[in-house]
Amino acid sequence: MTDVFPTLRGRMEYVCLGCDARYPADSLLYTCPGCGNVFLLETIDFHKLKERSAADWRALFDARAASRITALRGVFRYYEFIAPVLDAQDIVYLGEGITPIVEAAPALRDQIGLSFAYKNDGQNPSASFKDRGMACAFSYLKWLCRRNNWEEVLTVCASTGDTSASAALYAAYVGAPLKSVVLLPAGKVTPQQLSQPLGSGATVLELPGVFDDCMKVVEHLAENYRVALLNSKNSWRILGQESYAYETAQWHDWDVVDLCLFVPVGNAGNITAIMSGFLKLHELGLVTNLPRIFGVQSEHADPVYRYYAAPALARTWQPVRVRPSVAQAAMIGNPVSFPRVRKLAERYIAAGGEKAFQIIQVREQEIMDAMLKANRHGHIACTQGGECLAGLVNALALGLVSRSERALLDATAHSLKFAGFQELYFTDAFSPEYGITPNIDLANRPEALLPRSARNELEDAAYTRKAAEAMAKLLRLSPK
Ligand code: F0G
Repeated sequence: MTDVFPTLRGRMEYVCLGCDARYPADSLLYTCPGCGNVFLLETIDFHKLKERSAADWRALFDARAASRITALRGVFRYYEFIAPVLDAQDIVYLGEGITPIVEAAPALRDQIGLSFAYKNDGQNPSASFKDRGMACAFSYLKWLCRRNNWEEVLTVCASTGDTSASAALYAAYVGAPLKSVVLLPAGKVTPQQLSQPLGSGATVLELPGVFDDCMKVVEHLAENYRVALLNSKNSWRILGQESYAYETAQWHDWDVVDLCLFVPVGNAGNITAIMSGFLKLHELGLVTNLPRIFGVQSEHADPVYRYYAAPALARTWQPVRVRPSVAQAAMIGNPVSFPRVRKLAERYIAAGGEKAFQIIQVREQEIMDAMLKANRHGHIACTQGGECLAGLVNALALGLVSRSERALLDATAHSLKFAGFQELYFTDAFSPEYGITPNIDLANRPEALLPRSARNELEDAAYTRKAAEAMAKLLRLSPK
């Protein structure tokens, strides 16, 4: 039997995407002290990974999938590709990763007109994909705290709701010396998302404005005070999120020919990580080609779409002012990972061709209709998952995807976190700025069987009979 324990360790460095400066990975850095640009982390001895054949890597990952060592079942199933500096004792495992890939219900597939599946990243412990990156960022923090004997570390993040839920959960689990503080745009996270850091015991702070305002505040804090920033500016998050790519490849038996991935883009950490993950697999020969990646943005928060919609020579980076979006978790006008996307998209296109990386724009109405349609077919897509389906529909209509390809849509969070948007749709209560008119066929609401007073007026047996009769009438049941 294959020994699943990692034997291969590596040295890592931060690499600045602006000036190529390199810094050792044993301190927490977010931006380059020299030029201020963002980093990616690199394993210096990455070439050593090539000493093991692609077949042996695959066998190792399959063996870990079958092992009972929990730390090696989650995102650290791919330990050597993610953060080979970490020690086993620091790995935090809360059941993240290895999320199900669920084929589209046949009726939905037939309506859309091509084979596709959802990867349900809402089935992570805090109900979003953020847990992949947090597992890595917190394992690294534990490692740092142990090496430095730190007595207290404040972890901070700005969030549209899911980063904060995840950061607070992992901080609560690890406990001392970590303490979690989250900064949220007041009124712009859902009640379910807000309940999460509250329940985990984090310090929850609200600020008027949107996510981009909160992000600037925590960036200022991270530059001037001793705090650990947990937004995806923290490159350790990106490494953990690469596991999405590894899992996807492994699930498809390392054959990703004709696969198109649809990914919602907000702060752009997720699409960065997915590209980075597939580029590593490609370089090591674990996949022979790259899947095509389609980033999807709402027209109410679409700076990355606008950038790539311009002809290559006329592209200038321009943050946008966001407008209210049902894909609220991705409602970001100035994504901090944009420089990473630009860099990795160049490499991705160089290795996979011009059509390997594209950004699609969708309308708010399309996002809601797609989410509700998916969920009426037994899926559990959040609004961002709806955004992916809307992106697939548009890509098909634009001729960017052919019906012989297959698509994998990222349902980045659980539908329950975004139940309020479903409610607004069903009750036709969206404020005008969303521009959403409900399709009456998709609306649904509870129906009262008996008036409230009936419970007190009738004996138990009579009450049961009356309710059953009312139900039989409503459902037009025929007697046996
Ligand atoms: N989907 C969900 C459910 C999200 O929570 C986010 C981002 C995205 C998509 C976009 O991913 O930022 O990697 O491009 N949420 C962050 C947060 C910003 O604070 O929870 P991204």
